[in-house]
Formats: sequence, C-alpha cells, structure tokens
Amino acid sequence: MEDQAEQLREIMKGKTAQGAAPAKKTRIITVASGKGGVGKTNVSVNMAIAYAKLGKKVIVMDADLGLANVNVMLNMIPKFNLYHVIRKQKTMRDIILDTEYGIQIVAGASGFSKIANLSEDERQNFIDELYTLSSADIVIIDTSAGVSSNVLSFVAAADDAVIVTTPEPTAITDAYGIIKIIATEIDNLNMGLKLVVNRVHSVAEAKKVSDRMTNIAGQFLNLKVDYLGFIYDDPAVQQAVLRQKPFIAMDPKSKASMCVQHIVGRLEKSEVKEGGGLGTLIRRLFRGDERTFS
Ligand SMILES: Nc1ncnc2c1ncn2[C@@H]1O[C@H](COP(=O)(O)OP(=O)(O)OP(=O)(O)O)[C@@H](O)[C@H]1O
Ligand SMILES: [Mg+2]
Repeated sequence: MEDQAEQLREIMKGKTAQGAAPAKKTRIITVASGKGGVGKTNVSVNMAIAYAKLGKKVIVMDADLGLANVNVMLNMIPKFNLYHVIRKQKTMRDIILDTEYGIQIVAGASGFSKIANLSEDERQNFIDELYTLSSADIVIIDTSAGVSSNVLSFVAAADDAVIVTTPEPTAITDAYGIIKIIATEIDNLNMGLKLVVNRVHSVAEAKKVSDRMTNIAGQFLNLKVDYLGFIYDDPAVQQAVLRQKPFIAMDPKSKASMCVQHIVGRLEKSEVKEGGGLGTLIRRLFRGDERTFS
C-alpha cells in the first residue's frame, strides 16, 4: 500500500510510469477561521474566481461539515457531494461541478465523517479520489469555523493556510486561538500561514489588526504569519450573497472585488514551500508519518 501511495505521489509530481512528463503541481490553499461568519466562504469562492481570471484551473472544495455553503453562494443544488465519494457511491469526477464563473466546485457533505474515523477501505478509496483534483492548478478548501480534527487535517495538508478574521475583538482572539492550535498541534509545520483581515473600514484599521496578530504570533509562538491583505466592509458583498452570486462576478469593480484581486496577486507572488502539493495533502491527511487528528 505504501508502494501505491509512493507511485501516486510520483504521478502527482508529473512523472508518469512511462517516463518524465512536465511537472505540474497543484497548490492547495485551505481557508480557515477561529470565529464563524467572518467571510471564509466569500473569500474562498471569490479568490477562486480571481485566480481563474489569471488563467488558472481552480477547484473549490467545500469541507464544511455542518452547512455546505459554497454551492448555496453559487445558487447550485448539487445532487451528490463528498459524502457519496467517501461512501463509494460516486467518484470525485462524478461530483465535480462546473459553474458559470469559470471555476469548478466539489460540494461539501453534511454527513462528512471524521477523516480520522474512516475505515481503511474508505480511506484508501478517498485517497485515490482526491488525486482527481490534480487536474487543477489551484484547489481552495473552504472549512467550517474553529478547530475540528478535519479542519486541522486540511490545514496541515495545505501549501497555504489562509486565516480569515475581522477587526472584531472576538474574531481576533479566536483567530489567534486557531493559529496557536495550528502551531502546537501540527508537527513539521511547512505551510505558509497567511492572514486576511475582512470587513475593514480603512487601511489603517487593517494594518493595526494584522500588526497585532503577526506580532503576537511571532512573540509568543515564534511563528511567522504573513499578512496577505484586507477586504473592505462592502455592501456589495451582502447584496451578492442575497442574490447567490459571487461579488467579484456581480460587481468586479467593487471595493471588495479589488481587494480580493490584490490578495490573489500577492498569493501568486508568494512561493510555495518545497514538498507541498496534493501528494502532501493526501499524505498528511491519511498517512502515519504525520499525526492524524482525532
Ligand atoms: N467584506 C464584507 N463586507 C460586508 N459583508 C461581508 C463581508 N464579508 C462577509 N460579509 C458578510 O458576512 C456573511 C458571512 O460570510 P461567509 O458566509 O463568507 O462567512 P463564513 O466565515 O464562511 O461563515 P461560516 O463560519 O458560517 O462558514 C456574509 O453573508 C456577508 O453578509
Ligand atoms: Mg462558510
């Protein structure tokens, strides 16, 4: 089985069994937050569309357990979701949906089991299915708020963990909380930890929040958190949510849209640490060489 995983990893790196093929790596970006409702799903979906505008092939995977909301934001009602893949009723290819916004989505499952509790058979099948995502340049994983074991697994497996907060003191405290848990629970932290401050009213407010977060993380956790950028509090976002359209599609010139484009530009410029990608996602989600969160 280890052989199989190794073989798959090689395939992910772009080497086929027949010989070398051009290497193409899938960048995995997990979006998380401490407090709920701070804008993760909006950030995930709109960042994905901004990436697609740069010519990238992007898949948004909804890993939210309770409320599957990526599809709601896009006014789509998927028949099948990750639950059916885990239960081997469908393949990943069956459930990946095209959208009218140039991105694809994988719908989340309300019954999504704890990854740690999957049977060996389900686990192996899910690993194989996850490799289907390697057709994308970018996979953005939208998670549920807080630090469940699944969220931690998806954070541990990412090339970039984007932590979203708002300037609200409770959101900041919870964002610090999740960063602290990431720092203490994940061995061998090799993803880039990035901060997005959402719903700000001024550049200065955003900077104040990010300075505070990055300083505390550096001082108390010895952890480097990169400030990726901010998104203005913008009525266009609520309007778009009500119309079940991504704000970047509804109003590409809105303040929030410009901010998201800026954030994606910065992310594109930042390097992916060596050894990441889908192979690492899968290894870290499932293999014994990294801790599985229970
Ligand atoms: N930049 C913004 N400007 C104005 N309103 C915003 C902004 N970002 C988010 N919101 C509001 O916050 C609501 C919640 O956003 P969203 O669903 O993206 O949060 P979430 O973190 O994914 O929530 P959950 O934790 O429930 O998954 C949106 O419906 C919208 O009304
Ligand atoms: Mg959400």
